[in-house]
Amino acid sequence: MSASAFYAGALYMNNHHRFNQLMSSFRGEGPYLFVDGKKMFDAASGTFNLALGYNHPTLVARLQQQLERCSHLSSRFTHDASQLLFERLKPYLPAGMERFWFRDITGSSAIEGAIRMAQKASGRSGVISFYRAHHGQSLATASISGNAFRLSHFHTVIEGSLKIPAPASLYCGVSASAPIELPDFEQYIEYASTDNIACIVIEPVQGNGGNIVFPPAFYSALREVASRHNIAIIADEVQTGFGRTGSFFASSGYAAALQPDILVFAKGAGGIGIPAAGICMRPEYDVLESFEHSSTSGANPLALTALDATISVIEEEGVLDNVEALQPHLEAGLLELQQRYSGFMSGARGIGFMYAFDLPTVESVDLFIEIAERHQLIVRSARYGRSNTVKVRPALISTQQDIDVLLHALDASLAEFVATCPQLEGVA
Ligand SMILES: Cc1ncc(COP(=O)(O)O)c(C=O)c1O
Repeated sequence: MSASAFYAGALYMNNHHRFNQLMSSFRGEGPYLFVDGKKMFDAASGTFNLALGYNHPTLVARLQQQLERCSHLSSRFTHDASQLLFERLKPYLPAGMERFWFRDITGSSAIEGAIRMAQKASGRSGVISFYRAHHGQSLATASISGNAFRLSHFHTVIEGSLKIPAPASLYCGVSASAPIELPDFEQYIEYASTDNIACIVIEPVQGNGGNIVFPPAFYSALREVASRHNIAIIADEVQTGFGRTGSFFASSGYAAALQPDILVFAKGAGGIGIPAAGICMRPEYDVLESFEHSSTSGANPLALTALDATISVIEEEGVLDNVEALQPHLEAGLLELQQRYSGFMSGARGIGFMYAFDLPTVESVDLFIEIAERHQLIVRSARYGRSNTVKVRPALISTQQDIDVLLHALDASLAEFVATCPQLEGVA
């Protein structure tokens, strides 16, 4: 063996060994992540996508079985399985969703598919979206997302699009309902557009924008103006879908007044983090040719298996009932902490298992995340708006005991946070 072949082999073995070491330092168990053996409660559910935790046994078994059969099939062979899945989803969808398009595995590309449907059906181009919204990382979805920092070096415009302010709402699902001022939608359409709006894209609860839960009157006002102008409403349920807000979809539960024309899901749909996404729509938006929107891995067998198994677990294990039953406990715990740490923690808000609270400053959120890790808790911040938000999104299979672990770790983290930076008091 030549010296260079020997060294290349040694390098490979070394890299391979190191790679395995790195990957094996993480192990998930339900809502917990073990990092180098240290048990952490993951209150971010991965990237808000582990609806059923890290390793739900039903998902693992079904996926292993499918992996042994095949992990890829061209969409020509998966259409019937997709159809069966859609039939399973139908009872949970808002009224009128009679068609489906399961050819995506990411939320961004599924949102683009939905926009294409609205554009082709209407012959118009523009998209209305909201300040602080997040609809994805592709050029088109970033361009309609409501924050400038992701766009500063990139240039794409969907002609005729507008971003409009979303109400600043701190609506708390169980305990509070402060009245808010609704935007004057009519005014934006009349003065800022040129009769070229194809759709309004909205997250029923703004996730990355700071966990903003809108009051129901907002959804009905939007529905009314959209119907009057024949503009499609696209519900971006990438974060809110598959039980996160306590109903299967937010727009068939809390946000039912939205009555979307097109609905997009991703994230939690894959149960334990398997990439899976889909679009459901009213028949008049089922207008695309297959070559107009698809991707290599769309409707791959692992994604479809994960979707099917996730629906089964949600149904068989009463996951929605679990969220509904424990939401008051989670919310009461957060409100109690807010009282105990008033002046530091504020604005606790949310619905289902989708909660958040604010800390005084952006920097203090970074510090808090570090402190929380020492208390075996993973939390994430919201990057948008004032960015001083900490999101709390436990896996939907979390038990009351798990929620207590989360609240206890938050309590300990806040106590250390307050002791570390007493000078912040009163800034909030
Ligand atoms: C509401 C919402 N829409 C769309 C997306 C984009 O999904 P993906 O990251 O799977 O492309 C995200 C991702 O965070 C999201 O939160």
